[in-house]
Amino acid sequence: MLKTDVLILGSGIAGLTLALKLADAKPNLKITVLTKTVQGESNTRYAQGGVAAVWDLDKDTPEKHIEDTLIAGDGLCDADIVDIVVKEGPERVREIIEWGTRFDKHHGAYDLGMEGGHSENRILHYKDLTGFEIQRALLAKAKELPNIELYEHYFALDLITQHQLGYMVTRVTPDIECYGAYVLDEKNNKTETIVARLTVVATGGAGQIYRNTTNPVIATGDGIAMVYRAKGRLENMEFVQFHPTALYTPAGDNPVFLVSEAVRGFGGILKTPDGEEFMKNYDERGSLAPRDIVARAIDNEMKKRGDDFMSLDCSHLDREEFLKHFPTIHESCMKNGIDPMKDLIPVVPACHYICGGIRVDENGRSSIHNLYACGECTCTGLHGANRLASNSLLEAMVFAHRIHLDILEEIDGKTHKENVPEWNMLGTNEPKEKVLITQSWKELKEIMSSYVGIVRSNVRLKRAMDRLLLLHNETEELYKASPISPQLCELRNLITIAYLVTRSALMRRESRGLHYTTDYPEKQDFIDVSIL
Ligand code: FAD
Ligand code: SIN
Repeated sequence: MLKTDVLILGSGIAGLTLALKLADAKPNLKITVLTKTVQGESNTRYAQGGVAAVWDLDKDTPEKHIEDTLIAGDGLCDADIVDIVVKEGPERVREIIEWGTRFDKHHGAYDLGMEGGHSENRILHYKDLTGFEIQRALLAKAKELPNIELYEHYFALDLITQHQLGYMVTRVTPDIECYGAYVLDEKNNKTETIVARLTVVATGGAGQIYRNTTNPVIATGDGIAMVYRAKGRLENMEFVQFHPTALYTPAGDNPVFLVSEAVRGFGGILKTPDGEEFMKNYDERGSLAPRDIVARAIDNEMKKRGDDFMSLDCSHLDREEFLKHFPTIHESCMKNGIDPMKDLIPVVPACHYICGGIRVDENGRSSIHNLYACGECTCTGLHGANRLASNSLLEAMVFAHRIHLDILEEIDGKTHKENVPEWNMLGTNEPKEKVLITQSWKELKEIMSSYVGIVRSNVRLKRAMDRLLLLHNETEELYKASPISPQLCELRNLITIAYLVTRSALMRRESRGLHYTTDYPEKQDFIDVSIL
């Protein structure tokens, strides 16, 4: 058994920012950060566009950023949380700059980019590699702090609550407590019990439930599924954001490469493959309308015309400037035989971000005592029914700061739970056919892409539910019979997430933000809350 003061599951921007702040504020605190593969692999690493923050006070104001966020969120944002994130955000950005993060400058001032739904230029970025740069700086800083222990290839399996101590825990149990987590040390293939005074879930997103996704293969919603199993509260799971412009390749890559919204902010124009502009038919903001609108428009054009992709035209843009701002996008296009300065870039919508997740309060506390959550796995109230571009890195930093302050106040009164049992090994039969796991994962992606995509209907959602139930039953049988493995756990978590998205989508009998259903195409006056 391992004992730590604060256990953080995840080494993306959320987990690392929190670890750094806690370690810096209290050098005698033992902070344990786990990551399921290598420390640099996360959604954070792939963030391109940048961080939205009110920076140029001659032109921009917090009120404008607040308004843009509320408009994108389509009536479901928590206005207090939006206010907090927008107003505290710039200070958090200044901190990561002090920790060594670089953002591009132009004539000595930060070069502020534009993205869909923003009324001002406010996106701080480092070329098209913003996330990589942030993660680099955070990891470098973490190495300087000896009280942070970072374990790679440690896969969190489940949270420890009263349930593992033999008590009955249901969704209405009022005082569920978290004592730490069971994890799989993959290198030694053994399970560990980590007991912590406080635990934080920062496990990121779940894009891997869809066939086309910009999220790396680690984005399997583990933390959200763990909290659901522990009977914690989740919210807004139906609001899955599809990014309008992922690079289309006939082979269908996993993940698909993102062509940043910043490219449209830079002047790129969406067109049909034969060169017709179409976005103005859907929204007066054209190619820079909010993501839900652009993704739906592309989906509609593809279906209407029977095309496999739409196109992004950058051929009119300045080559040198394009290369300076988007070197990775340029390189990726060229590798696929597309010269963005001459050819139309083929693009498709791809699952990108999950707006719902573990419900937390303004200090990142979940509904389970001693358990916080931070970053993409949460539902803070910032994004509502649709996230405004580049608000997610900002949210993770603001909440990491708030959680660190809360933990500093709380930790002295917290103790380690005694007599926590070891992980209960279930099955011991090595599955003879590992292909069953990969096949079920593929099936899951097909179900979600076909029936729970950008445009939904009751018939499709019910069909998805029936098929998910079958997959669930088969996977539970396999889980009971087999030794624990990350692949099997990820499949199980993905099925849980798919079920939660589908069930929440069925519960919302209206179209709002990212949830569009042909059965209820209008917004309703009453606001449904999809609490699970
Ligand atoms: P992640 O960065 O995903 O980190 C999750 C961590 O949890 C990883 O270390 C992972 O290994 C670990 N983990 C997961 N499960 C387990 C487990 N079972 N056990 C142990 N560890 C586990 N947002 C913006 O604001 N601006 C952008 O420009 C932008 N561009 C993006 C581009 C792409 C291609 C993608 C995919 C996302 C983009 N986003 C952007 C979204 C943003 O990057 C993410 O929402 C954000 O980085 C999430 O940070 P996080 O720390 O919550 O999670
Ligand atoms: C992008 O660069 O288009 C992604 C921005 C985001 O997801 O916030």
